[in-house]
Amino acid sequence: MTIIEHSNKEIIGRDDINDVEAILAITNTDVNEIEHVVKNNCDSVFSWDYSKSRPALHKLYEKAKTGQWNGTTDLPWNTEVDIEATVTADQAVLGSGLDPNHYDGTPIAKWGDKEWLEFGIESRRWMLSQFLHGEQGALICTAKIVETVPWYDAKMYAATQVVDEARHVEVFAEYLHSKLGGQYQINAHLRMLLDDIVADSRWDMTYLGMQIMVEGLALAAFGFMHQTTSEPLLKQLLRYVMSDEARHVAFGVLSLKEVYDGMTDAEMKDRQEFAFEASVRMRDRFIQQEVWEHFGMKPKEIAPMVLKDPTRMVFQQMLFSKIVPNCKKLGLLDRNDSWLRHRFEDLGVIQFEDWENTGEEYLKFELGEETPNPIQH
Ligand SMILES: [Fe+2]
Ligand SMILES: [Fe+2]
Repeated sequence: MTIIEHSNKEIIGRDDINDVEAILAITNTDVNEIEHVVKNNCDSVFSWDYSKSRPALHKLYEKAKTGQWNGTTDLPWNTEVDIEATVTADQAVLGSGLDPNHYDGTPIAKWGDKEWLEFGIESRRWMLSQFLHGEQGALICTAKIVETVPWYDAKMYAATQVVDEARHVEVFAEYLHSKLGGQYQINAHLRMLLDDIVADSRWDMTYLGMQIMVEGLALAAFGFMHQTTSEPLLKQLLRYVMSDEARHVAFGVLSLKEVYDGMTDAEMKDRQEFAFEASVRMRDRFIQQEVWEHFGMKPKEIAPMVLKDPTRMVFQQMLFSKIVPNCKKLGLLDRNDSWLRHRFEDLGVIQFEDWENTGEEYLKFELGEETPNPIQH
């Protein structure tokens, strides 16, 4: 069987992955949208086979039942959050995430302490807002998995994840609204990715898009923020969410391993292309175009410099520290003449391939254990 070669243009809508004009042509045209409707194109599948034939998934289900927590009562919501003080303290340790010397000839070159602080605050609101919208994506995707996956053990596990994701939506929404003064709208690249995941009729694509790609990135990003923030409420919130997320990524890895091991090259090629598309969308969103608009700047003028900012690049690459080893474990990297490996080389993230994958690692993230640092080898 011949494998069809699709061009970048066919997969991601542009030939050059760094074509700034094309990246920024994707914008959120209705920032006041409240309801967003996507056709999910799926069959609901019953299974009359109730045998526990997948012990690894059953174990995960048992873990999930005892790992539940209550977003209302388990977090110290009475913590006073002084956002200026928090961001100032965090920036003192980490910097702003950008290299200030990289923006000659732009308004950023003239920024003083006040502007850098405002940038830090807006970046945090933006980042946590995208986490929030991504969590709702996970809520919808796992509800879909309950319906579409043909395996009994997987349906049971996925049902617990629906509750987990509801809790994550709850705590991020509460934090943004009660501590940070409100949310940003969803970034257009993230929305496009969530739309694509939900619209795909194949049940394993929901897993790949959400459990492996979106949640893999989230686990790395939450870990980084948990490690580096001095704000105690946010730190604890992220720790609780991570204890769930590590299970979620494990669910993806364990399920897809079984499916992919039996797939043809042509079927695997579709999955590799989808993983690449998802990676590009997630990278594109980190240009933070909405934050630049907040500062009255034209994203078109700033984005080419942001894409090449060496400080930001390190952070962006780190976000792939879970995705790449998990793709490797699933056999996605090297099938079809290492197709996805070459794409990850283009994106500058292949160096994570031998980091720990999340198939078993979730046990280390349980509450009560010392928090592992997900961004260390
Ligand atoms: Fe989540
Ligand atoms: Fe999750």
